Amino acid sequence: MTVTALPDAFHPDAARERKRWAASADAWDRWADPMADLADKLNRPLLDAAGLAEGHRLLDLASGAGEPALSAARRAGPDGLVVGSDLVPGMMAGAVRRAHGVEGPAPAFTAADMTALPFADAAFDGVTCRFGIMFVPAAESALREVRRVLRPGGRAAFMVWGPRAGNGLFAEIGDAVAGHLGEDGSLDPLFRFSAPGLLSDLMRAAGFAATSETDLTPVRKAPAGQPFWRAALEMSFGHRLAGLSAEQRVTLEADIDRRFDAQAVGGIVPVPSHARIVVGW
Ligand SMILES: C[S@@+](CC[C@H](N)C(=O)[O-])C[C@H]1O[C@@H](n2cnc3c(N)ncnc32)[C@H](O)[C@@H]1O
Repeated sequence: MTVTALPDAFHPDAARERKRWAASADAWDRWADPMADLADKLNRPLLDAAGLAEGHRLLDLASGAGEPALSAARRAGPDGLVVGSDLVPGMMAGAVRRAHGVEGPAPAFTAADMTALPFADAAFDGVTCRFGIMFVPAAESALREVRRVLRPGGRAAFMVWGPRAGNGLFAEIGDAVAGHLGEDGSLDPLFRFSAPGLLSDLMRAAGFAATSETDLTPVRKAPAGQPFWRAALEMSFGHRLAGLSAEQRVTLEADIDRRFDAQAVGGIVPVPSHARIVVGW
């Protein structure tokens, strides 16, 4: 089958990605609990798409600070097994901390590059990956690995971002950061699978018999004049903020504030987002 070439501009660089995530790990840990309710709104449809039910064995790839592995463990229950994994051990520190704090079933976490998974063939009923596959240069190898560790009939569900223009937080903060610090292209990989059908094509080329895609386009109603955008700034742009002086940081944040306030209607800023769930059997 013909697979559409991945746009070069969005292609990640392995060393840069490792550095980015190592540098942002503290921010992901810090924001994981305050953002848990918002995270759960995305976790639920992803876990549904993966067909996760009580007693299942699920592998979560690129778990970061534990999304959706922690929600998955609750759903799989005491007879199930959830394994969370990530390339960067520092990113998983938050997940391990949070797992200790939960009552009931908790996931096990292990460091793993999704292009070389340390698991047996057919070991899992389902695989999830929330906002991770786009950062893997050899995405095709990762998809073949996912296919290998899934039992026959099992499902893999990936969540990826739609286009930058439909993701208000990234678009506005990205423009502000580029205006103050210059454009470095580090936001581009987020949108690598934003074209409909692209990830599905890759999954079928990796051996999945069938795929489906569902777009989620919620609009968050954020309070004007509040720094509702700070989590996104620190989690997605944290690797760029380290060199800023306190004064430069204040100027950047004031600019972000202004951009969102300019969009407010009746004290509410509508913040659109566009995610896509891609499922393979
Ligand atoms: C945007 S974060 C997503 C974290 C979490 N799934 C969430 O949605 O909150 C992307 C994660 O992908 C991980 N990652 C990048 N390349 C990877 C690879 N080759 N194998 C496994 N994880 C990888 C990063 O370390 C990072 O934790």
